[in-house]
Amino acid sequence: MDIQTLFADRIGGSQFGLKDEIYKFEKIKRAKAAARKARPAVELLDFGVGEPDQMAPAAIREALKREVDKPENRGYADNGIREFKVAAGEYLKSFFGVTDIDPDTEINHSIGSKPALAMLPLCFINPGDLMFQTVPGYPVLATHAKYLGGKVVNLPLKKEMGFFPDLDAIDPAMADQAKLFYVNYPNNPTGAAPTAAFFDRLIAFAKKHNLLVVQDAAYATLIYNRDRISILGRPGGKEVAVELHSMSKSYNMTGWRLGFVAGNAKAVAAYAAVKDNSDSGQFKAIQQAACAGIADVSLSEGIRAHYQRRLEKLVEVLKAAGFDAAMPGGSFFLYTSAPTGAEGVTFKTAEDASQYLIRECSVSTVPWDDVGAFLRFSATFESKGPDDDDRVLGELAERLQRAKLTFS
Ligand SMILES: Cc1ncc(COP(=O)(O)O)c(C=O)c1O
Repeated sequence: MDIQTLFADRIGGSQFGLKDEIYKFEKIKRAKAAARKARPAVELLDFGVGEPDQMAPAAIREALKREVDKPENRGYADNGIREFKVAAGEYLKSFFGVTDIDPDTEINHSIGSKPALAMLPLCFINPGDLMFQTVPGYPVLATHAKYLGGKVVNLPLKKEMGFFPDLDAIDPAMADQAKLFYVNYPNNPTGAAPTAAFFDRLIAFAKKHNLLVVQDAAYATLIYNRDRISILGRPGGKEVAVELHSMSKSYNMTGWRLGFVAGNAKAVAAYAAVKDNSDSGQFKAIQQAACAGIADVSLSEGIRAHYQRRLEKLVEVLKAAGFDAAMPGGSFFLYTSAPTGAEGVTFKTAEDASQYLIRECSVSTVPWDDVGAFLRFSATFESKGPDDDDRVLGELAERLQRAKLTFS
């Protein structure tokens, strides 16, 4: 018996687990462990984490405590309870002004956006089928499309294009072949917020080339100095798109695992069919608890304001150290050109810069070298409360000044 001969090609076949390539996040993890070991007394400032630093709102936690004791919540949830679909519809209305979504046919819950992204290719991708995704970005939909034998075309997000893909640069013949177009706004990692103009262009492109837009709105409520916007609120949006919403970031419910897919009824039905054959739904008590807060803009506003405060201060700290930093339009990420050197050292890549900052300054960030060299600073850094934020950011400022970073 040799399990090694049994693995599917999509995960490396007989080579699965044998290669010792180290991926980006593992490199960061190892460098952090080494820095902690080398300087145990120095606090590691972690601007790399991609998940909220706070608890879910009390109203939602209290609701869960009540719902968990109700016998009617004990069983399989299958494709979800109606109350959550209705509440999700209310959320689309109160946050984004989207009023014409039918909760019964145009909304279905997910156990978070990640599994929904993993399931959507099962609905659309046959071997050889094509899809577009933007890079850098969250790769789950494309990974699963590739697992199924699909082909993925990467569209670069360039700073000079406002971190939107250049739709005019796409070969029309290729667009005609594509079935899915994955976008994510507010964007991880660039922090770009959606605009009505971009969504309208994308809707027209999707109609022209007969493809489905998958808009990953995991950060939809984290928007700064502009209006929140849903592709489903744009003319023709729900004809050509599904939008994925998540409780993870808007309500600090990361580990609770709850979100929903909304939009084109046929696409939602296909997702529900695949989902019904993949999982048995999120715990009903969690869905009920979410109903207690999902459409309450004031609950989510406190979370948004927390990141805005931190990001505004982070911009100042980074600018003082020489970074070309600016307030993002959305998300909790600040994406900025990586330094090209420090005292006596040159960085060829953002990864070099990130490794140096961890090793020499005990400051962790995430490097992106896909389209230019950028570092992502996350406003989810650990602190002991709002007053402690200033201390952490002051520490960051000092360490970055000391590093004498250069930018060419
Ligand atoms: C762009 C993007 N989409 C989706 C997710 C996953 O969200 P969820 O917790 O809803 O699965 C993340 C999480 O980091 C993300 O950054």
